[in-house]
Amino acid sequence: MDTANQLASVGTFQVLKLPLGFIRVLEWLFAIFAFATCGGYSGQLRVSVDCMEKASSNLSIGIDFAYPFRLHQVSFEAPACEAMRRERVFLIGDYSSSAEFFVTIAVFAFLYSLMATIVYIFFLNKYHENSRAPLIDFVVTVVFSFMWLVSSSAWAKALSDVKVATDPDEVQLLISACKSQTNKCGSVHGPRWSGLNTSVVFGFLNFVLWAGNIWFVFKETGWHKGASRFAGGTSEKQAGTFNQQPYNQGSFDQSGSYNAQGNLGQPSEYSQVGGPTSYSNQM
Ligand SMILES: *[C@@H]1O[C@H](CO)[C@@H](O)[C@H](O)[C@H]1NC(C)=O
Repeated sequence: MDTANQLASVGTFQVLKLPLGFIRVLEWLFAIFAFATCGGYSGQLRVSVDCMEKASSNLSIGIDFAYPFRLHQVSFEAPACEAMRRERVFLIGDYSSSAEFFVTIAVFAFLYSLMATIVYIFFLNKYHENSRAPLIDFVVTVVFSFMWLVSSSAWAKALSDVKVATDPDEVQLLISACKSQTNKCGSVHGPRWSGLNTSVVFGFLNFVLWAGNIWFVFKETGWHKGASRFAGGTSEKQAGTFNQQPYNQGSFDQSGSYNAQGNLGQPSEYSQVGGPTSYSNQM
């Protein structure tokens, strides 16, 4: 049975039921959650400055900030508690590099996994005919796994710093009127963190997805086939197969050769010798 027949009998969209395709779909869905929750974030904290001379007090000073968290550019006006004078106060810190790195990785991971899904659905034939395609897919998957781990860790660290820098109790310390015992400063409310906490969770979930998919892409490269064929060859009198070059073959050709050797009666799901072979056979 050749590749085209297998595909025809399986049905094009069935590839999404296989681990490789299914995880790719989860990857781009989770990437959307990661960059949308981080890149779309805006938060507000609110502090009060209660001056000894009540007239100059402001009991509700709102401070807005948003992605990409260049907090040193976020400022607000606070009463100086001296004859209605006001001072401009800036928050501290610039967390844009980690935040933008995280969102950039998420956007590119989204684009790649969406593209890969489309290729698996509509161009699976070409994907397997060209032995380079699974190889590139494998390398890109390894790189993205690593990038998800690095960017999620960096973003998790930056987020914990952002939380400190925008804590109303910390922001009060920046207001000079609050340094005087005679004035009372307080926090009205802090920012909501659920969205950004979600983005970190999805960052690490994406790392797990991509790292897990390394195995399923690896099986498509043919290296794994080459190794198992080599291992099984001596015991099963398959010396002839050593002459073939597994690296140059798509996984279909090889699973086809398993068929030819009579190892399998039926090409049905997970009925074959090894789990890996059954997977690519099915595809
Ligand atoms: C208090 O500060 C806010 C800015 O957060 C400003 O809009 C408002 O006018 C101030 N109120 C007074 C009474 O100065």
